[in-house]
Amino acid sequence: MDDWKPNFDLSGRVVLVTGGSRGLGLAMSRALAASGATVVLNGRTAGPLEEQRDAIRAAGYSADMEAFAVDDAEAAVAGIHAVAKRHGGLYGLVNNAGHQRRHPIEEMSDEAFEDVVSVHLTAAFRLMREAVGIMRAMPDGPRGRLVFTSSVTARLGRRNIYPYAAAKSGLEAMARVGAAEFGGEGITCNAIEPGYFLTEINAPLLEDQAFTDWVTSRTPAGRWADPAELGGAVTFLMSTAASYVNGHELVVDGGMTAVL
Ligand SMILES: NC(=O)c1ccc[n+]([C@@H]2O[C@H](COP(=O)([O-])OP(=O)(O)OC[C@H]3O[C@@H](n4cnc5c(N)ncnc54)[C@H](OP(=O)(O)O)[C@@H]3O)[C@@H](O)[C@H]2O)c1
Repeated sequence: MDDWKPNFDLSGRVVLVTGGSRGLGLAMSRALAASGATVVLNGRTAGPLEEQRDAIRAAGYSADMEAFAVDDAEAAVAGIHAVAKRHGGLYGLVNNAGHQRRHPIEEMSDEAFEDVVSVHLTAAFRLMREAVGIMRAMPDGPRGRLVFTSSVTARLGRRNIYPYAAAKSGLEAMARVGAAEFGGEGITCNAIEPGYFLTEINAPLLEDQAFTDWVTSRTPAGRWADPAELGGAVTFLMSTAASYVNGHELVVDGGMTAVL
């Protein structure tokens, strides 16, 4: 009967969350910490990371921080290895850091396109590669969890977000390739597809009442999502309960992509 109850406990697991200083990354970090993990918050700016790390600690959970820009190759590689060295390894990586640049096609420069792909996709690949090296070198054998924050726009088109949607589709493809390559090693690789959540990245959309009207009418839930509503998905994918879930896209969108 010991194996009847699914195990969502993350005690002793060290998880690095990029873009963990606010928004979805912070909400996921809080959920992981509250489920027992030692969560390592990343972002570019030390101040908010210190503040959120201290708040998680004050709530009685375990947290650390490592500031680096995920799209700075040298800093990112050094950063993830510094985390592993400090904590004696790494169990999980949530590739979540991101931004948005919305332009109609004639105004979308090569620079803007490459910037978005660099932060969302290339940086996620680089950290994934380093994380797998660390996970494979664990003294008790390889094990670990890779999670990518994708988006419903990986599968549904929306105007003005060419590099964002392309990068999110790319993340899901990378999760499947990772599943194929490390699936036999106890290292899983999955994506989460959030719908529309109330965070800073969506500030320009929130200023537009017509957009909110569209979100509420298009989503069976009838509202924007609270970032805390992503906590269950990431905790599940990080946990022993998800040991046979690999190469999957877990949609958390209030039903938006299920309906016409
Ligand atoms: N909100 C939504 O509705 C939604 C839906 C689908 C997918 N997503 C995805 O969810 C992820 C998080 O978005 P969010 O809504 O939480 O946005 P957010 O509130 O703007 O947070 C973005 C986070 O990423 C960090 N960041 C940005 N650029 C970075 C870089 N180059 N290196 C390291 N950290 C960086 C930010 O910290 P610093 O600025 O201090 O670096 C911040 O912690 C993104 O990948 C986004 O595409 C969001």
